[in-house]
Amino acid sequence: MLEFIIRHNQDRETHIGYYGKGETEIRETLAEFTRPLTESFLLAWQGSELVSVFGVEYDPEIGRAWLYGPQVVSPDWHAIADEHYAAIEELIPESIHEHELFFDINNKRGQEFAARHAFLAHSSDAVLFLERDALKLVSTVPVQVCDYNETFFSGFEALHQHIFPRTYYTASQIVEKLDDNHRLLLVIEAGKVLGYHFCKRESQSGYIDFIGTDPAARGKGLGAALLKAGIAWMFEPAQIRLIELTVNANNQAAMQLYQKFGFAAKHILCGYRKRMA
Ligand SMILES: CC(C)(COP(=O)(O)OP(=O)(O)OC[C@H]1O[C@@H](n2cnc3c(N)ncnc32)[C@H](O)[C@@H]1OP(=O)(O)O)[C@@H](O)C(=O)NCCC(=O)NCCS
Repeated sequence: MLEFIIRHNQDRETHIGYYGKGETEIRETLAEFTRPLTESFLLAWQGSELVSVFGVEYDPEIGRAWLYGPQVVSPDWHAIADEHYAAIEELIPESIHEHELFFDINNKRGQEFAARHAFLAHSSDAVLFLERDALKLVSTVPVQVCDYNETFFSGFEALHQHIFPRTYYTASQIVEKLDDNHRLLLVIEAGKVLGYHFCKRESQSGYIDFIGTDPAARGKGLGAALLKAGIAWMFEPAQIRLIELTVNANNQAAMQLYQKFGFAAKHILCGYRKRMA
């Protein structure tokens, strides 16, 4: 299964956005599944040949299922994809009211599948990357960036919900993840959380999950200060050569903020969502 995903995720036409690219990233994605892979993936065979891999991850608290597929390699693409989706639906509890798909913009059959199953286009995301050598020196305002502690939970939660309503991690889920490789940086002024940056270090790369500032405090340099502090921390271990993130391709403010630090676009991914009856 791993070999199949690695091979077909390199090709833009069969790329599934959630996995990431390359063996290390794909292994790490699979290792983060909340349920055992034997309960999260179904495989389809034609004779002895593996022709389709379809997985699902879901969160009852958020009410959404993330569909890791369809990733099919066969002339019967659509028939196999439909049959495989029907089987995957059996693994998803009824309390989950929304399904999400996430493909490379060049995955045309994935897009046809989304349309046929009445998914609606939800987002167009750019995957940006920054290599260590491409990091640009940016001077930032002298604001103090500090680590999260629980006295800031309600302020952080309110800001996170305001900026990213219904996103893939709640404020509590973010806080539960904090450890040596997951960091939540804050800017506080007069006891109020004005901005935050949640990022993580994996074995060879860093990843920015969320960065946001209070709408009333934007344009004052806080976003740049938070980003700079997180980048410096992610690049501390010498083996981390790369930082990645996904951002709405139409989000001008964020795109420009990242470009200012030297981030460049790797590919464009399209998200689709469907409300279940
Ligand atoms: C993106 C965001 C974090 C920027 O925060 P901020 O505190 O306003 O950013 P800064 O004041 O530090 O600006 C830094 C740079 O970002 C870019 N930028 C910020 N706001 C911008 C805007 N409205 N239009 C264009 N570029 C903008 C600029 O390059 C700016 O540098 P400059 O001032 O030298 O031109 C903020 O707009 C935000 O919270 N947006 C909603 C959440 C989000 O989209 N997060 C990113 C996706 S994870």
